Amino acid sequence: MCGIVGFTGHQAAAPLLLEGLKRLEYRGYDSAGIAVIDGDTINVAKVSGRIANLCEKTHDGADTPGSTGIGHTRWATHGAPTDLNAHPHLSNDGKFAIVHNGIIENYAELREELIAKGYTFLSETDTEVVVHLIEMYYKGDLKAAVMKTTSRLEGSYALGIVCTDDPETLFVAREHGPLILGIGVGENYFSSDVTALVSYTKNVIYLDDGEFAELSPDNVTVYDCAGRAVEKKISRITWNVEAAEKGGYEHFMLKEIMEEPGAVKAALAPRIHGSDLKLDDFELTAEQLRDVRRIVITACGSAYYAGCAGKFAIESLCRIPVTVELASELRYADPIIDEHTLLIVLSQSGETADTIAAMKECKRLGAKTIAIVNVVGSTIANLADHTLYTWAGPEIAVATTKGYTTQLAVLYVFALYAARRLGTIDEQTYSALLADLHSLPKKMQQTIDMNHALPELAEKIRDRQSLFYIGRNTDWAVSLEGALKMKEISYIHTEAYAAGELKHGTIALIDDGQPVIAICCNDRLMDKSISNVVEVKARGAKVIAVTFRGDTRAVAQADDVIFVPKVDPLFSAALAILPLQMLAYYVAIANGCDIDKPKNLAKSVTVE
Ligand code: F6R
Repeated sequence: MCGIVGFTGHQAAAPLLLEGLKRLEYRGYDSAGIAVIDGDTINVAKVSGRIANLCEKTHDGADTPGSTGIGHTRWATHGAPTDLNAHPHLSNDGKFAIVHNGIIENYAELREELIAKGYTFLSETDTEVVVHLIEMYYKGDLKAAVMKTTSRLEGSYALGIVCTDDPETLFVAREHGPLILGIGVGENYFSSDVTALVSYTKNVIYLDDGEFAELSPDNVTVYDCAGRAVEKKISRITWNVEAAEKGGYEHFMLKEIMEEPGAVKAALAPRIHGSDLKLDDFELTAEQLRDVRRIVITACGSAYYAGCAGKFAIESLCRIPVTVELASELRYADPIIDEHTLLIVLSQSGETADTIAAMKECKRLGAKTIAIVNVVGSTIANLADHTLYTWAGPEIAVATTKGYTTQLAVLYVFALYAARRLGTIDEQTYSALLADLHSLPKKMQQTIDMNHALPELAEKIRDRQSLFYIGRNTDWAVSLEGALKMKEISYIHTEAYAAGELKHGTIALIDDGQPVIAICCNDRLMDKSISNVVEVKARGAKVIAVTFRGDTRAVAQADDVIFVPKVDPLFSAALAILPLQMLAYYVAIANGCDIDKPKNLAKSVTVE
């Protein structure tokens, strides 16, 4: 989705802005633009399509000279992805240019008001009202004009603004949209995504909702919503720019799959202390946990499916009822939530609009909140009472992989931690499960190593119209995520089904040669799962079983087998999903799909 960048310093701004925009490409976009101040004019270049077109149009920035500027990648919401609708947008007097992430919900009435006052609109965007409001309110003091403008806006925004009266200054404002300031030496930056800053500086300030900031080459001042200067903590980015590069892999997705064992290790290591588990900078006492009558997990997409797998671990170990709710539904469901509800929010980006909205609604109703988030300083991390970071490092491919498995890892830590404090687990089981948890990174690596024949398996299914994924319990949760991975990057229709539910309708679709991917990693339910495999085989299905190495029960029935090492079924999702991610990847490769940027998708879904 949209991304913004800004630079002020003593070198040419445009090449740096273009480089920053390239780092935001992974988020998904359909047009892009930059605006650079040159004396008392603002040079603007905008194109529909790729950043490469913008580089070509500006001769890599040479045609837009100046040392202070802003840039934008747009994912169209209001108006088609045309050059005119691309940001930055200019005021009618040519004095101001702005870039905007978010949606101005009351733009229609503001637009009418501004047209009545004589302002001319060139685009169909909601954003353009902002720049005309700034022009209208500007009386020589940009800060005052921005504050007056934002007081008129409803919705969400991260704004970057330049003004020819102050050619070395960037002004930014944030409300419900990520905005990070990069602190350099003799130059400063902003972006909606830390990935665009990390090659220039590792020192960053995360702005909070309602804050503004003024950046010049040698100074950064942050203001609160009343315009008072506030002290902000400077945080260090803990990863290098290489972490956000392909590092020799053909695609980010493959690189990120290969990083999963290490990412899960990074998620587990700081929390496992000998035989004890710790939750970062907070603790939950037995008394606090006993006060929890119900846990609600909310998220979207893969994060929701991680919640589906985590539910089994939490319920089984803690004996607290858990429901997993799609954030886009929970918000409007008139949910039964009170101060005895613990809301666990899962999000890789920490910026998913539906998840944020559901979280706010549950907080309003009194829920205590724990966020399991990857992106440091993100909106969801800030909103939560407590945050558990997944420490997966930057995830660039649109299809999440290490984001999902690290969410699982943190959910498992939470389940074991809470069970021990609640006394719902005996010490022997606790120790065995802790050992299993500890072994996950190693077993994930073994899973990757033992599945080198997946490209050949991919060849067998690449031209199928439809694939079925079945499983029971945690295997069902894995089916859901495996099916999503396949459909989102290979565009093959997939259907995930609770294996026992097949015969209540869906089995009508199984006929000769229909591939069915059967997840059989739950020892306790193996016989039941095998019965379901036999049922589909009897209707002609070709079964690919995912099962434990050394277990012959599924092997005897399947046409093809994918092996994973044995682990307790409560944690098996973290292993079983790996070959399914890889299978999706190889099918998409075989079909020539754009792996890292699947059609119609965006990395961080900041619109509802
Ligand atoms: C699928 C995928 C999406 C995200 C979903 C939530 O591969 O990446 O389904 O899981 O959009 O995103 P986050 O976790 O950023 O809230």
